[in-house]
Amino acid sequence: MRGIFWALLPNPALLCYNAAMEQKKRNLESAVQPLLDWYRLSARDLPWRKTRDPYRIWVSEIMLQQTRVAAVLGYYARFLDAFPSVEALAQSPEDQLLKLWEGLGYYSRARNLQKAAQMVAERGGFPEDYPGLLALPGVGEYTAAAIASAAFGKREAAVDGNVLRVIARLLDCHDDITAPQTKKKIRAHVQAVFPEAPEDVPIFNQALMELGATVCAPNGPPKCLLCPLRTLCLGLARGTAEALPVKAPKKARRVEEKTVFLLLRDGKAALRKRPPGGLLAGLWEFPNTDEALDENAAPSVISGWGLEARSWRAKLAAKHIFTHVEWRMTGYTLAVSGEGPPDFVWMNAAELKAHAVPSAFARYYAEALKALEREEENGILEKE
Ligand code: ADE
Repeated sequence: MRGIFWALLPNPALLCYNAAMEQKKRNLESAVQPLLDWYRLSARDLPWRKTRDPYRIWVSEIMLQQTRVAAVLGYYARFLDAFPSVEALAQSPEDQLLKLWEGLGYYSRARNLQKAAQMVAERGGFPEDYPGLLALPGVGEYTAAAIASAAFGKREAAVDGNVLRVIARLLDCHDDITAPQTKKKIRAHVQAVFPEAPEDVPIFNQALMELGATVCAPNGPPKCLLCPLRTLCLGLARGTAEALPVKAPKKARRVEEKTVFLLLRDGKAALRKRPPGGLLAGLWEFPNTDEALDENAAPSVISGWGLEARSWRAKLAAKHIFTHVEWRMTGYTLAVSGEGPPDFVWMNAAELKAHAVPSAFARYYAEALKALEREEENGILEKE
């Protein structure tokens, strides 16, 4: 009998949990209007926020995946000048597209952009809802929701790293934000408070993102004094904001050693196209090998390519960090004679500038341009 009595009473732990959840829900609901007001007054003036054109919004969102706003702005303007419509992008030569993307990194984004443009041109316009957008190559959950809301006024919560950080701090949430279930939960919270008014729908996602990018920022303490949500923020009230969000540590990057050869001949440098799959697929590179070679070992690579080394000039080290790999490069600049293997293409300075060489090779690219332009200026062809 006593057992039944206790079982009928509410569980105190559960009551406490429910009360805490209710408070979090209220805080999030109360955050919406101050956030929108703040955005209307304080948001950065960015070109993709002045349009509802799905093409322009889509291009911006793809460029902004993994890349900072400041780095995107110039690329965005040049890209839209070159490809003012989805049809123009669909028909563009791949080399021109990759050249315009040169330096932005994650080149599969450019290829997916073109594939998606072809699909959109074929169907006669962009899909206007979340599932349709999600089906386009290169468009994930965040991007589909961002386009659906900004271009088509759909109530779809777009949750990127900025939004996860804002919400984790606002709700004092200590779950690991790299876990898919945390993202799902936070998306559901944001979705539940999505504003109704049609004029608020395209800017709500932008406003959350903007707060995360400029005030509730990563790397360093949040600027809580400037935050429109400071009176609602549980992380600030409880002193946890700076330590949030919780993120599981990343796996260490794999280190790969390489030796890069800057081969100069008759005012030209040797380049070759990378294989069609894998890292930096189909982009141009300076010939290289997959190990660190010292001065004793490097010459055999040159003879293996059927070239004759005329003069070894400089040794140049460089490092490049990708998401999962780090390249540590040893490099040699040398004058050679001979043709080299059939995939070597000998380019002068103007030709080099017209091809897309990824920034992993930036040090060698700069060195090659300097050497080729110097030779052109001197009017001396390399004949040693
Ligand atoms: N990052 C991702 N999408 C963005 C946007 N629309 N504006 C600013 N930063 C962003």
